[in-house]
Amino acid sequence: MANPWTPEGWRLRPAQHQPVYADQEKLAAVERQLCAYPPLVFAGEARQLRQALANVADGRAFLLQGGDCAESFADFAANNIRDTFRVILQMAVVLTFGAACPVVKVGRMGGQFAKPRSLPTETIDGVTLPAYRGDMINGAAFNPADREPDPARMVQAYNQSAATLNLLRAFSQGGYADLHKVHQWTLGFLAGSPQGERYRDLADRIGETLAFMEACGLTSDVVPQIRETAFFTSHEALLLPYEQSLTRVDSTTGKWYCCSAHMLWIGDRTRQVDGAHVEFLRGVGNPLGVKVGPSAPMDDILRLCDILNPDNEAGRLTLIVRMGDPEVETKLPPIIQAIQREGRKVVWTCDPMHANTMKTDSGFKTRSFERVLNEVRSYFAVHRALGSHPGGIHIELTGQDVTECIGGAQDITEARLGDRYETFCDPRLNASQAVELAFQVAEALKMERDRSTTVTA
Ligand code: PEP
Ligand code: CO
Repeated sequence: MANPWTPEGWRLRPAQHQPVYADQEKLAAVERQLCAYPPLVFAGEARQLRQALANVADGRAFLLQGGDCAESFADFAANNIRDTFRVILQMAVVLTFGAACPVVKVGRMGGQFAKPRSLPTETIDGVTLPAYRGDMINGAAFNPADREPDPARMVQAYNQSAATLNLLRAFSQGGYADLHKVHQWTLGFLAGSPQGERYRDLADRIGETLAFMEACGLTSDVVPQIRETAFFTSHEALLLPYEQSLTRVDSTTGKWYCCSAHMLWIGDRTRQVDGAHVEFLRGVGNPLGVKVGPSAPMDDILRLCDILNPDNEAGRLTLIVRMGDPEVETKLPPIIQAIQREGRKVVWTCDPMHANTMKTDSGFKTRSFERVLNEVRSYFAVHRALGSHPGGIHIELTGQDVTECIGGAQDITEARLGDRYETFCDPRLNASQAVELAFQVAEALKMERDRSTTVTA
């Protein structure tokens, strides 16, 4: 039997990528404060997501997870939240309509504030300061005051997450996500782009379908899914004092849930089987993700399945594979085969962002849209060859018209990266690139679904 779990048990294990707080009393006071605050999500909602992900694991749905690499305090504004939500909705209708497949929508939003960094410090012109670790830990500006980790930032992250969730709930249930508004979601810079036109055609067809359904009596009174949508939140559970402070016993089931988000994932740099992050997350009932990068040993992946999903329940564990283009072609098949051999139930998803990052000569961290597409294409091809379900994609995106990734229909060149390079961390797909990707994925998914209907027919 596994060791008994407690919310603070992780403190006895080595914890990677944690800040060193100079003022431990202030840290303890913030933790007490957060422990007294209301949960951001309810356990019942986390269970609903788990159920939806069980459908993905069984090949009956697709997971679309996306949002900022890192949310920021400075960019906190209703329009930014709306635009990210809107582009995820657009991608979701492209997938749902294009591939006739239910889509589970999960934002990297409402808590994605802490980042693992390659080095604990940064040196500029001979001055060394702590590295920037995300707004819930310290500030990005290169000066000693900003870079000092401050526990009070966790309270600000909590408040921003609460307001973000409030707006997301209003958007998803208050009429904004009504499928009759599918045309209006495309307002803004996307409207004039080639992707905008393609999207408008699809929206026209959805409009006709809705009119037909209405004529048959299938209105949103009968089918509320036309009027509202389920939208979930997720982030990397990196900063453990924050996550522990929001962990509560669910009164309905008596089980522990981490109520900072519906889904939490463990990053590629903190997935050590004996480490603090794995220890913490094994005890909460939320659906969990684990990033799997090129350095993940196969034994560790299987042990992580044992530790995080001992009862082998569908929907509990998502493997977010991020191998890079072209490595995915050789590195993904043995992992799928091992999971199949061991009879493990997982949701497979592809993060085509994190192993395709490069630096330009002019110093911009960027990603080539072509390589992102290539990784997704190869991911589908590998799953097709092995008969497993390519369950989802995990994307860093924004609804803004940024120029952070090279390529796509707008043909963003290296020289244009500086036009609107706004990310605090990794380069994101803009709305046009995100919708373009969704059309490609819809085609691949449709092929997969057509194939499985032919095989089972
Ligand atoms: C991320 O998702 O922002 C991230 C840091 O990813 P990874 O853990 O895969 O490197
Ligand atoms: Co990132």
